[in-house]
Amino acid sequence: MDTILSLHSLVAYVVLIVLLLAVLNAFWGVFGNRSFGTKDLRLSLFGLIFSHIQLLLGIVVYFVSPYFSAWESGIGAVMKDATLRLFLVEHPTTNILAIVLITIGWSLHKKGATDKKKFFRIAVFYALGIVLLLSRIPWNQWL
Ligand code: HEM
Repeated sequence: MDTILSLHSLVAYVVLIVLLLAVLNAFWGVFGNRSFGTKDLRLSLFGLIFSHIQLLLGIVVYFVSPYFSAWESGIGAVMKDATLRLFLVEHPTTNILAIVLITIGWSLHKKGATDKKKFFRIAVFYALGIVLLLSRIPWNQWL
């Protein structure tokens, strides 16, 4: 449990930093009228890959976490307790949704007819993803 949670905790920094860089780079691409090159592709792809690694780690963490046994007391008990609700419901569902958005952004950028469209799709979908992720990070336990 400790190792997998430490990994999930560590990869969280990497995911957030890489996604933030990808978003800033994409907005710079949109407003700077740059062409979408290999570095842009790599940065966006790293954002996608690390998000997916974090998703897999999160799924494992979910089932091995001590919080998980709280389900035995029923859904009512979980939803009534803010901490349990965060770890067992809000953090997982919001983050899965965020990663779905990031994946959609990645797929749509590939279909973008112009470089501006490619940058724009990465910028918007990845930015939405980050906002969702940041909204449900267990800050007081993490930092
Ligand atoms: C990019 C997506 C994600 C990020 C950035 C993220 C980030 C984090 C962070 C920073 C923590 C606190 C770690 C600590 O206490 O040191 C955490 C805990 C946790 N995460 Fe995630 N997470 C993500 C996705 C997920 C997903 C998809 C799931 C489940 C399906 C999940 C399940 C959990 C659980 C259950 C805990 C609490 C574990 C415990 O303290 O026992 N996470 N996450």
